[in-house]
Amino acid sequence: MLDKVRKVAGIFSEALRDATLFLRFNAYSPFVQSSKRAFYRILIEAHTIEKGLSLPQTRPLFGKDKVRFVMHALSRYDIAHSVLPAHMSLGALDAYLKFHTTAGTVDPLLDEIAAFLRTWEAKVPRPWKGGTRDYSFDDQPASDLQQLIASRSSIRTLRAEPLPPERIHEVIAQAQLAPSQCNRQATRVHAYQDPAQIQELLALQGGSRGFAHHVGNLFVVSSEICAWGGPGQRNQAYVDGALFAMCLMFACRSMGWGACPLNLAIDHRTEAAIRRVGGIPAGERLILMIAFGEPIAAHTRVAFSPRRPVAEIATLHA
Ligand SMILES: Cc1cc2nc3c(=O)[nH]c(=O)nc-3n(C[C@H](O)[C@H](O)[C@H](O)COP(=O)(O)O)c2cc1C
Repeated sequence: MLDKVRKVAGIFSEALRDATLFLRFNAYSPFVQSSKRAFYRILIEAHTIEKGLSLPQTRPLFGKDKVRFVMHALSRYDIAHSVLPAHMSLGALDAYLKFHTTAGTVDPLLDEIAAFLRTWEAKVPRPWKGGTRDYSFDDQPASDLQQLIASRSSIRTLRAEPLPPERIHEVIAQAQLAPSQCNRQATRVHAYQDPAQIQELLALQGGSRGFAHHVGNLFVVSSEICAWGGPGQRNQAYVDGALFAMCLMFACRSMGWGACPLNLAIDHRTEAAIRRVGGIPAGERLILMIAFGEPIAAHTRVAFSPRRPVAEIATLHA
């Protein structure tokens, strides 16, 4: 009985701490560095322009308010924080202008955009990484992707040798191709190779008993809370973070490495301890850990982990 009461009380106290953490670090919080908040805000709004240009039928002069907002926000933004919002905004505005010029549209807003782009060219030279790009379904056979999905398994027989940092950067760059809400890219990756630090982190995680001593490379995937604002977004960090983590594991597989996701189903106390040991800022929510490395052998044994029949989990609302 006492155990049940403790569990119920724990649910309330954790929810309260969730709310406190979200209030302290969310997108509207005055306690968060303004350049960080502006970074995400500009990315989100610039994305609405590129999105409008990628629709089957783009409405002429759509999103005038958004366009003006992006120009205004970028003028006040400090690119020393990150040049990405400038690239994304300038690319989107340039594509917006080109779309309307090609369509023969005339409007004072288009003149404003052209003037705005001219002033920015010197500060952030072209080509701008934003706007729209051509895409082909012919580039990669679908069977390659199916094979990659089918070839991934949680690998717990890893070599403890640290992997070269440049290859770790490569897999992270591949994982960055994961979708994210409004392309805000709030997910963070912390990679560890110090054996003592890894053992401390894994001890706090608790789910790697039996193979922890084989782990010589460890990711902690987290998300910057200040990318998210308003009650509806309080859990979105987990959605983006999980999608990123999945891509990270596929990227590890494509490198010939093994990887095993490790849950962070933990309370705030443990989350704070992991942050402390891992040197992770307080404004990041922890999503999961991933143990990774070369496999002990090319042929190994994995848990079968059978899947439910599709009919049990799928409802086709035709
Ligand atoms: C979010 C998440 C957390 C997990 N945590 C652990 C863990 O703590 N320890 C572990 O050995 N495996 C963990 N796993 C691996 C699962 O047991 C595994 O994904 C599942 O059995 C399916 O097997 P497969 O990954 O080989 O397809 C986790 C998986 C996910 C997605």
